[in-house]
Amino acid sequence: MPIHVIVGAQWGDEGKGRVVDYFAAQSDITARYAGGDNAGHTVRVGDETYKLHLVPSGILYPNGICVLGGGMVINPLTLMRELKQLADRGIDIAPERIWIAENAHLITPAHVALDGAREAQRGSAAIGTTKRGIGPAYTDKAARSGLRAGMMANADLYRERLTEHLITHNKTLEALYGAAPLDVDEAAAPLLEAAAFLAPYLTNVPLALNEALRDGKSVLAEGAQGTLLDLDHGSYPYVTSSSATVGGVMTGLGVGPKVIERVTGVVKAYSTRVGGGPFPTELTGALGDQLRGTGANPWDEFGTTTGRPRRTGWLDVVVLRYAARINGLTDLIVTKLDILSGFDSLQIADRYTLDGTEIRELPSDHARLADVTPIYGHLPGWHQDIMQVTDFEALPDAAQDYIRRIETLTDLPIRQVTVGPARAQAINR
Ligand code: GDP
Ligand code: IMO
Ligand code: MG
Repeated sequence: MPIHVIVGAQWGDEGKGRVVDYFAAQSDITARYAGGDNAGHTVRVGDETYKLHLVPSGILYPNGICVLGGGMVINPLTLMRELKQLADRGIDIAPERIWIAENAHLITPAHVALDGAREAQRGSAAIGTTKRGIGPAYTDKAARSGLRAGMMANADLYRERLTEHLITHNKTLEALYGAAPLDVDEAAAPLLEAAAFLAPYLTNVPLALNEALRDGKSVLAEGAQGTLLDLDHGSYPYVTSSSATVGGVMTGLGVGPKVIERVTGVVKAYSTRVGGGPFPTELTGALGDQLRGTGANPWDEFGTTTGRPRRTGWLDVVVLRYAARINGLTDLIVTKLDILSGFDSLQIADRYTLDGTEIRELPSDHARLADVTPIYGHLPGWHQDIMQVTDFEALPDAAQDYIRRIETLTDLPIRQVTVGPARAQAINR
């Protein structure tokens, strides 16, 4: 049976969590393939709001298996806390339904300290990371000196490797960044406790997942971050350190490409970005504030993980065409259309000018994204509240036209439009 991939088509926070929650109802397994607790996926179920950072959004259904894949970097302290919080809210967290890949890498307090120190040293060129230790953990992975989740099953070996790891990184913290070293015993103790808690969840994920696929189970691959934050394909260096795009599914879960049947790109009806880096359609004035909201609504544009105000701007179809190509998208889902209610007119960028020349694709040197000027198409806005609309035809004409325009410009079908955070606030087409 096939894999359906849900991937962010912009700069993250497109609403992947709520989309995964929607499809998880019909899937046997939900598997995160990349990233760590830099992700924040907010899912509304009835009156309850869940903010998930590591556990796949499929966990909110009583059945189904959730997988934390080998492409992830897992902070064991965050994961233990998240699992306990879910259990406190009545969610079943039995090890039979949550598999942690043995080849996933671990994030330690040393990685978190290094992330902070490196960002401070970058000064005005800071990436604006979530300071969760993501970059340093993937650095250790690539340097072949990382700690893997499977080590947590062997307490003695883990203690030994963890101590070495903390001592080594303390040297870097002090010598390179002038930062305070960590107390090794103090840092190791909670990690050893978390290891005992998490060990029963360790699973040979590539084997178990391929067996499940062979037995006809359906798998939903949950993306984190977004295409423009991908380490290889994003706006480097203003990216995260993981493979957020579809390639990450294969390396991150240990599956072949032929089982991937559908790749859905999640697109916010406008654009947001949190952290530094180029953002061609950014709106810095009153319109940008209107898109962001004041923080009064839970869906206003403030980061789930860091609380930072997100940068906001018009929809950028050049970015969407790029995401379609890099991920081989088969279809799109557009979220947060309701946020566009109340604008007199709307704009969609479908080309740029760069050095006086018109371009239809992202410049190959993504640093040049800082120098492009978007060319906008203008569309009429609408003022009706659309949050209770359940049929596409019942949307105001201008809202229907906005969706159809995106389909025309991207040459992709839009299978669902969401008009509010609740499960019912989704219009299927
Ligand atoms: P993710 O990281 O891609 O899962 O997205 P986030 O959860 O970080 O951000 C999306 C935010 O928008 C969350 O607060 C969602 O509850 C909310 N949201 C998702 N879809 C809609 C929608 O259609 N309308 C509104 N108003 N909010 C939405
Ligand atoms: P979800 O899954 C939005 C951004 C950070 C920063 C850059 C690098 O919720 O969509 P990192 O801590 O990963 O080294 O930071 O990437 N970033 C995200 N932005 N949504 C996310 O995840 C993000 N995860 C990382 O803000 O610009
Ligand atoms: Mg998010």
